[in-house]
Amino acid sequence: MKKIEAFIRHEAFEPIRAELLEKGFPSLSIGEVKGSGRQKGIVESYRGSRLTVNVRPKLKIECVVEDRDKSVVVETILKHARTGDVGDGKIFVIDVEEAIRIRTGEEGDDVLQAHAESEIPG
Ligand SMILES: Nc1ncnc2c1ncn2[C@@H]1O[C@H](COP(=O)(O)OP(=O)(O)OP(=O)(O)O)[C@@H](O)[C@H]1O
Ligand SMILES: [Mg+2]
Repeated sequence: MKKIEAFIRHEAFEPIRAELLEKGFPSLSIGEVKGSGRQKGIVESYRGSRLTVNVRPKLKIECVVEDRDKSVVVETILKHARTGDVGDGKIFVIDVEEAIRIRTGEEGDDVLQAHAESEIPG
């Protein structure tokens, strides 16, 4: 299992979410984060004085998938998050040891993403 952890611009999220859902990856987490890349800080003006903003708001997406699904998720993020300007973000791919669905105690690849309709309760 792999966790794809991506730091992206906020506006890239909706098209990424929609395409991942369509491709069978409905399960993900997002969070508002602040960070800096290699540009470190940017200089802004505030009431006439110049100040350096050291961190910028980004959205973090976390999506855990089977090993074989890594590329499709990475490609989907790249497709929508790349504008070609600095600050487009970064993707990290991390090995995941275990996944456990709390409700049932099930483990493994089957708990990660979409289930057959018949398996979804209610
Ligand atoms: N090595 C890293 N570790 C953790 N978070 C990172 C790392 N690199 C980037 N990030 C996160 O990604 C965000 C966007 O990074 P950014 O796109 O500016 O990277 P960059 O390497 O400076 O590339 P670019 O030159 O395109 O701006 C950062 O604000 C930070 O939240
Ligand atoms: Mg940068």
